[in-house]
Amino acid sequence: MLVSATEMLKKAKAGHYAVGQFNINNLEWTKSILLTAKELRSPVILGVSEGAGKYMGGYDVVVGMVNGLLKDLDIDVPVALHLDHGSFEGCYKCIEAGFSSIMFDGSHYPIAENVEKTTELVKAAHSKGLSIEAEVGSIGGEEDGVIGMGECADPKECKSIADLGVDFLAAGIGNIHGKYPANWKGLSFETLAAVQELTGELPLVLHGGTGIPADQIKKAIDLGVSKINVNTECQLAFADATRKYIEAGKDLEGKGFDPRKLLAPGAEAIKATVKEKMELFGSVGKA
Ligand code: G3H
Ligand code: ZN
Repeated sequence: MLVSATEMLKKAKAGHYAVGQFNINNLEWTKSILLTAKELRSPVILGVSEGAGKYMGGYDVVVGMVNGLLKDLDIDVPVALHLDHGSFEGCYKCIEAGFSSIMFDGSHYPIAENVEKTTELVKAAHSKGLSIEAEVGSIGGEEDGVIGMGECADPKECKSIADLGVDFLAAGIGNIHGKYPANWKGLSFETLAAVQELTGELPLVLHGGTGIPADQIKKAIDLGVSKINVNTECQLAFADATRKYIEAGKDLEGKGFDPRKLLAPGAEAIKATVKEKMELFGSVGKA
């Protein structure tokens, strides 16, 4: 059964580790992530962007697929199904469809409007037992059409959004979606420490988890990050393994064109990436 992300993230914050949010795109992605979480006894959050939800056919398809896998694969670790960078309307659709968690990305609204919309969604989500994430500042780069300027969050704005009753908060601290450029300055731990100081026990979220060096991940967890989002790294691993399979001509040998064979190396590569991240985040054995 799906659970909200509130409890698993409170536990993570208290235990000084982070739970990974891994974005899903299809059956292979979802299966690989869930099987790895089960094998490693780790809680996990499945992230669904609005674009990926549309690609999979719609939110009802996503909920049906995930619930079916939880049952048929006997997944017995805590799993949350979370809307990633949701619009105001998208949040309502996911609440209706049966997600267990939503993110309202109101970072592009003026703060007063972000507050107003977040307040309404906190009520709507909590009335149905879902957890809710909000964003302040903005994550740089682009993810599925969501473009961010990458400015660091104002800790006072973080506090005002935290006080609305959100369950966890994403603060922009110099993190970027996709690959980090060679001249990236690194995470702003000064901003993170100031946000943590004002928001106390609230679990903080680090987006743009792809390619952040291990020492910066560890330091971010020490400073209160309890959820780390990873998307691009699974995509790169999947594409690389699939390319190798095709370039080696495996799809031309025997029944190598069978999608169950063709997609298997990519699915294994996602498992390896998820395992590496769960070990780095410290969530292994916490379920
Ligand atoms: O919301 C999802 C993420 O922040 C993932 O970022 O693609 O850079 O790993 P990433
Ligand atoms: Zn993100």
